Amino acid sequence: MIVAENLSKDFGAKHAVSDVSFTVRPGRVTGFLGPNGAGKSTTMRMIVGLDRPTRGTVTVAGREYRTLRSPLTEVGVLLDAKAVHTGRSARAHLRAIAATHGIPRSRVDEVVEATGIGAVAGKRAGKFSLGMGQRLGIATALLGDPHTLILDEPVNGLDPEGVLWVRNLVRRAAAEGRTVLLSSHLMSEMAMTADHIVVLGRGRVLADAPLDDLVRAWTTSTVRIRSPRLAELATALSAPGVELAATVADELQVTGRTAAEIGDLAAAHGIPLHELHTTSGSLEDAYLALTGESIEYKSKEIA
Ligand SMILES: Nc1ncnc2c1ncn2[C@@H]1O[C@H](COP(=O)(O)OP(=O)(O)O)[C@@H](O)[C@H]1O
Ligand SMILES: [Mg+2]
Repeated sequence: MIVAENLSKDFGAKHAVSDVSFTVRPGRVTGFLGPNGAGKSTTMRMIVGLDRPTRGTVTVAGREYRTLRSPLTEVGVLLDAKAVHTGRSARAHLRAIAATHGIPRSRVDEVVEATGIGAVAGKRAGKFSLGMGQRLGIATALLGDPHTLILDEPVNGLDPEGVLWVRNLVRRAAAEGRTVLLSSHLMSEMAMTADHIVVLGRGRVLADAPLDDLVRAWTTSTVRIRSPRLAELATALSAPGVELAATVADELQVTGRTAAEIGDLAAAHGIPLHELHTTSGSLEDAYLALTGESIEYKSKEIA
């Protein structure tokens, strides 16, 4: 479990992280979202003691990271895949880190295998592609078989197969009861990976909710209905706040009413329904609605 309380970080006059409180619980994947510059990496760096909070506290498994006696076996972290000794081979890099914690060489071979870098493990890490570098970073995070995983943009630079691999890896870790915090730019990927979402904007928590709740709260659902007596149903449905759009014959798109409300109303009028189907908004829609006001560098539309 990761607990942040009133966590704040100023860089000079810049408030990078302001009064952030959240709890990352075990047994689920928590996605960390936010525009560039929102403070995600700074928050992650504070969790593992690489940045010192200006105010507030953050603990992992009830303790400050720097007081953990064997941090690699408690927290696995990928912050910057380029943070390797460029002249060392991937395997030598992993062995050097393992040696600091008395982790056996057999474990190095295990994570090399598990992350699919076996073929390049003997090559200099400085020559790695972005994708291979990410895999090496994840291998490093997994080295101590930690209960908590913190991964900052782990799928950056990965091919689709690699993206899927990361998704399965973190889902499995959560299913094993581990605590997982990961950030990503890819909304559709995050929607498939995370159970819970924390959204940051300009250093503040904009939302902290289960994925489904977040999407429901910040997007509009549409209910598609088909009925042989559509005109009557449309009349019965008409009310302030309800929008009806005729798409194809016998079909209506309704916003402002839930499927249950529409079904009950149809039943009350004795109108048969041939189809009743809800389409929810996406995480991306919810994210854009939430962060619309807080994007630091908005792209300008070109006229
Ligand atoms: N070492 C630093 N010195 C000064 N400003 C920094 C430093 N690190 C981050 N920042 C600033 O803090 C803000 C948050 O950055 P960051 O945590 O990297 O955001 P994110 O990971 O969400 O993109 C940004 O405005 C960034 O420019
Ligand atoms: Mg970042």
